[in-house]
Amino acid sequence: MAKKIWILSGAGLSAESGLRTFRDHDGLWEEYDVMEVCSIEGWRRDRDKVTRFYDARRAQLAHVLPNAAHYYIASLEERYPDRLINMTQNVDDLLERAGCCHVIHLHGTLTDLRCEECGSVFHIGYAHQEGFCCPKCGSARVRHNVVMFGESAPAYRHLYEAMDEAGLFIAIGTSGQVIDVGSIAERVALSVFVNPKREEEPRWGREIGWLDERFDRFIQKKATEAIDEIEEVIREFVANL
Ligand code: OAD
Ligand code: ZN
Repeated sequence: MAKKIWILSGAGLSAESGLRTFRDHDGLWEEYDVMEVCSIEGWRRDRDKVTRFYDARRAQLAHVLPNAAHYYIASLEERYPDRLINMTQNVDDLLERAGCCHVIHLHGTLTDLRCEECGSVFHIGYAHQEGFCCPKCGSARVRHNVVMFGESAPAYRHLYEAMDEAGLFIAIGTSGQVIDVGSIAERVALSVFVNPKREEEPRWGREIGWLDERFDRFIQKKATEAIDEIEEVIREFVANL
């Protein structure tokens, strides 16, 4: 039996730290055109605009703090070092700042840049990109280290590994619109969905709740308010191994 505990988080995990999600009513995609700032076509059309978008995200990240849910996930890493798979779609560094050391960032990292010539990834923290060159080859052709729509996400290979290894899957704060967490839920023995909101838009012929109903359990709460219930599920899972 698969014995790992797999946490897959999304923008909702960092919402209570003050970082806006993408698809909520006040989300980032209300203010920005996603295809202009987060797609390969938008990047080819206007590099400066995309760079400004990520500069602003980085500057904002400097002013927020991890919340109780980030610290809780860090405590899981510490208590279950060989059992936890800590994966996130988030590009912020709040899990690391809460003490996590083994985060798999499926969509890249905001605090790094990547060289377009040699591919090396280097840390810039919360700084603006302007003036940075690749420390390895000296090229000035550097870019954000965040996956865009239209390009591959190499870290997705970890999704397939995790599907084989995990016996408990917990999706926290994701709309499931980029990574199909509903399908993952149906493949893992026990699955939990944490989200304060049910999907209200019918989709693929399914009615309200089309996503949460694919999970064994739905904790309809904000991430920080769901901690006790998540802890209960994890304890029970571990006790029954
Ligand atoms: P979304 O913005 O699509 O979804 C965020 C989800 O978090 C929604 O379902 C909210 O209901 C929920 N939520 C809001 N507040 C919450 C809270 N306090 N606690 C728990 N959940 C809460 O974000 P993601 O699913 O993460 O890609 O989006 C996936 C990807 O789309 C992102 O990684 C990003 C974007 O394009 C890249 O940056 C490459
Ligand atoms: Zn380089």
